[in-house]
Amino acid sequence: MVRWLSSALLAVASTLLFTPVVQAADLESVLAGQANLTTFRGLVKNHTDIFANLPQGITIAAPNDNAFMKLGNWETYNESMVVATLKYHILKQTIDMPSIKKGDSIWASTSLTDEKFSTVTGGQRLILTKQPGGEVVFTSGFATRGTVLVEDLKFDNGLVQVIDSVMRVPETLDSTARSAYHDLTAFVGALYATDLMSELARQKDVTIFAPRNAAFQQLAGTFENMDKEKLKRILRYHIVPGNLTHVWELKNASSLASADNGNKLTITRHTNYIFVNAAEIIQADILISNGLVHMIDNVLSPDLSDSRPDVTLTTAQPPVFTPTGATATGTTVPTPFASNLPCTVSCPVTQPTAAPTATGAGGDGQGAKSSNAGVAPARCTGLAGAGVGIGLAVGAMMAVL
Ligand SMILES: *[C@@H]1O[C@H](CO)[C@@H](O)[C@H](O)[C@H]1NC(C)=O
Ligand SMILES: *[C@@H]1O[C@H](CO)[C@@H](O)[C@H](O)[C@H]1NC(C)=O
Ligand SMILES: *[C@@H]1O[C@H](CO)[C@@H](O)[C@H](O)[C@H]1NC(C)=O
Ligand SMILES: *[C@@H]1O[C@H](CO)[C@@H](O)[C@H](O)[C@H]1NC(C)=O
Ligand SMILES: *[C@@H]1O[C@H](CO)[C@@H](O)[C@H](O)[C@H]1NC(C)=O
Repeated sequence: MVRWLSSALLAVASTLLFTPVVQAADLESVLAGQANLTTFRGLVKNHTDIFANLPQGITIAAPNDNAFMKLGNWETYNESMVVATLKYHILKQTIDMPSIKKGDSIWASTSLTDEKFSTVTGGQRLILTKQPGGEVVFTSGFATRGTVLVEDLKFDNGLVQVIDSVMRVPETLDSTARSAYHDLTAFVGALYATDLMSELARQKDVTIFAPRNAAFQQLAGTFENMDKEKLKRILRYHIVPGNLTHVWELKNASSLASADNGNKLTITRHTNYIFVNAAEIIQADILISNGLVHMIDNVLSPDLSDSRPDVTLTTAQPPVFTPTGATATGTTVPTPFASNLPCTVSCPVTQPTAAPTATGAGGDGQGAKSSNAGVAPARCTGLAGAGVGIGLAVGAMMAVL
């Protein structure tokens, strides 16, 4: 008994001795203690409206000086964009990096709740992914990713994570497709052709399964003279309003209610592959102002909601529509509905690398040039940021070859 007591006391004593005393520190002094955070420190000082009365239990993603330099056009951000961007760097929870498992992705709500920028319930989101090597990557709008360079700096209200890119506030589907995901222009054009863009803009917390351009090219003949109402119904079947679901939250055999009167979409998971009905998700978790987009390799049919993938296929899943007429794919083949995209300041939109985000809120027009933005496949640090990671991306490529 005595021996037990003394060893217990010893344990308590050593805990007291060896637990470092955690000193409260204000944000400014924590930032000042790090090299290369001059720009962010200046922004914190200049925006007491945002940083003076921070709530408890938060995480601040602090881009370093090189991140602002890399962005290339920070000087052109007006005050409302600066404020939105800063709020997008404040996560509403305290998230320490060791708590994320290797290979896992999680999402975090941010303080960006202004409806001009985001209608995602609880605030626009960032995705945090821990790579197999252990580093954590933040993913934001326009496929912009930042790696955590200095982890878990403690301050009065939570933690600071120093990152190497400025997170970009997600914008509309249109703006995102034009400046970073050119493979979605047929889908976006089709939404315009059927006057569905304004309907989509009003929806919150959307999950969109957006077929890539080649899927529309394959069915060019089928869509050529399709009745507008019929096409509208097909497109609505690709949109799930009010149920923002990241790819890792899509459970096998679960279903989601689409904007086609709740007509169901069914998820199938097989090894590293994820399908919605019989279409494969080839790029996941593209953040937009009112939710997110998963890019798929086939157009879905609302009349064939019971279609499922043939998981034994080593090639891509065939289209569920019967192709008629033109079915060729590739960059030299015209993209259906591309001409329905409204013209922006630098038409024609058929030269996507030059297309600015003129219709978007941010409109910095540098998406394609940004070291982080771009069409799939993502940079190496970004692959897992898509949630499904290498397995899916490689699988998709193999299927195409
Ligand atoms: C700060 O930036 C300089 C120049 O890019 C670099 O050489 C230095 O290693 C950085 N310091 C830290 C602590 O990251
Ligand atoms: C902070 O405000 C001052 C005065 O308006 C300005 O000169 C400075 O560039 C601002 N700093 C940052 C990082 O925005
Ligand atoms: C996924 O769901 C399908 C359909 O219910 C089922 O046949 C299959 O075995 C499930 N796969 C896994 C990995 O659970
Ligand atoms: C929302 O999505 C989840 C995850 O895929 C699914 O399980 C659930 O049934 C969906 N709810 C509705 C109403 O569609
Ligand atoms: C700020 O810039 C954005 C994008 O460039 C623009 O949409 C918005 O109207 C501007 N806001 C103000 C107040 O000038």
